[in-house]
Amino acid sequence: MIRRDLLKAAAGAVVVARPGQPDPAWQGWRVDGARANRWLTELARFGANPGGGVSRVGFSDADIEARRWLMGVMREVGLSPAVDPAGNILAKIDGSEPGLKPLLFGSHIDSVLNGGNYDGDVGSLGAIDVMATLLTKRYRNRHPFWVTIWADEESGLTGSRGFLGEISQEELGRVRPSDTVPLGELIGRVGGDPAAMATYRHEPGSIAGYVELHIEQGGTLDQARIDIGVVEGIVGIVSFEVTISGFANHAGTTPMPGRRNALTAASELVLAVDRIVNRHPGRQVGTVGRLDVKPGARNVIPGEVRLSIELRDLDMAKLDRLWREIKAAGDAIMSRRQTAWEASPRPTNQAAKSDPKVRATIAAATRSLGLSQRVLPSGAGHDAQDLARIGPMGMIFVPSVGGISHAPQEFTKPADVTNGINVLLQTILRLDQA
Ligand code: GLV
Ligand code: MN
Ligand code: MN
Repeated sequence: MIRRDLLKAAAGAVVVARPGQPDPAWQGWRVDGARANRWLTELARFGANPGGGVSRVGFSDADIEARRWLMGVMREVGLSPAVDPAGNILAKIDGSEPGLKPLLFGSHIDSVLNGGNYDGDVGSLGAIDVMATLLTKRYRNRHPFWVTIWADEESGLTGSRGFLGEISQEELGRVRPSDTVPLGELIGRVGGDPAAMATYRHEPGSIAGYVELHIEQGGTLDQARIDIGVVEGIVGIVSFEVTISGFANHAGTTPMPGRRNALTAASELVLAVDRIVNRHPGRQVGTVGRLDVKPGARNVIPGEVRLSIELRDLDMAKLDRLWREIKAAGDAIMSRRQTAWEASPRPTNQAAKSDPKVRATIAAATRSLGLSQRVLPSGAGHDAQDLARIGPMGMIFVPSVGGISHAPQEFTKPADVTNGINVLLQTILRLDQA
């Protein structure tokens, strides 16, 4: 729809490689790394914490202001961003060949509480930088190109699940544990249209591919001094909201025997999760990351504890087995401590393999830039694992210094940010020509 006239006027600016012909000019194209790194610094203002990093939780005021700023940046470089029903920011450019499906690339700009300035931000600004570069070069893209900034990634891949049509009306009407209003209302706040989500969906086979640039968030690349990670797959995540019920009573007058202390039961459960996840070979991980104790007073025996349990692995069947073991251990703990428990599952993030052709394309793009690379799994969740259900998916990782992420100390060197964006640029160009 947009840029077509401009692109038509520039027809002939790009020579596509044919067998026996010299390398096309686009193979030498590079992004302006300084620009994306400057954008990263500017984005860090929104939700900035005094001690560094940001709290820019999805749908918060800081998130809403950052999204407004980001759409301004998109307009400045010649894009026309729009918010889809699920609250995602999409900027689309028509392709020159009718019938070709869109190539998508992007990430997210929401953060965890007390998060850093790189998780999601690098891939979002990188995608805009790639698109800006292609517009400046007057590239004639064959496929439609869509820059996708997913809404509320950190709380359960909300935007990408909404894009696929996987968020039910029931989920839209529900208030999540850390929110005060229903999800649908939150999506409306950022310009989404929850009513339209009933029919909004993207079916399997409807996209040519999805590529996401992201920081590694682990220490593999940094320790081995490797420039680029080619992601082989993304872990599945199952998680539960657990409520343990005991009996709140006087901490001074109630004898130790017979107490129904929800916190001592919870403590045993926390250790059981750790023990069970640890006792099997493999790279699976399990975490209790939140614990709310009620009534939370020094002189009252805790009557109720709510906590989260999260399990991750590339193999969904293994997650199922681990949960069954935790469930059995939990039942035994609760019966011994005369407490009751309930565990309700949160939306599952399905594990996903990246597409071998996209992986090979990322590898070729990395080689063409003279950068070193390694194939690795992603222990973090990403919207890319949802997109893998509707088309070929690939992810590009850049090093995280010290492997630190979801923390204010999260850091990726500007040169690595630039490398990653150049790999994204060269990957998108190759996929478009393929
Ligand atoms: C998202 O970043 C996650 O892995 O939790
Ligand atoms: Mn994250
Ligand atoms: Mn992320």
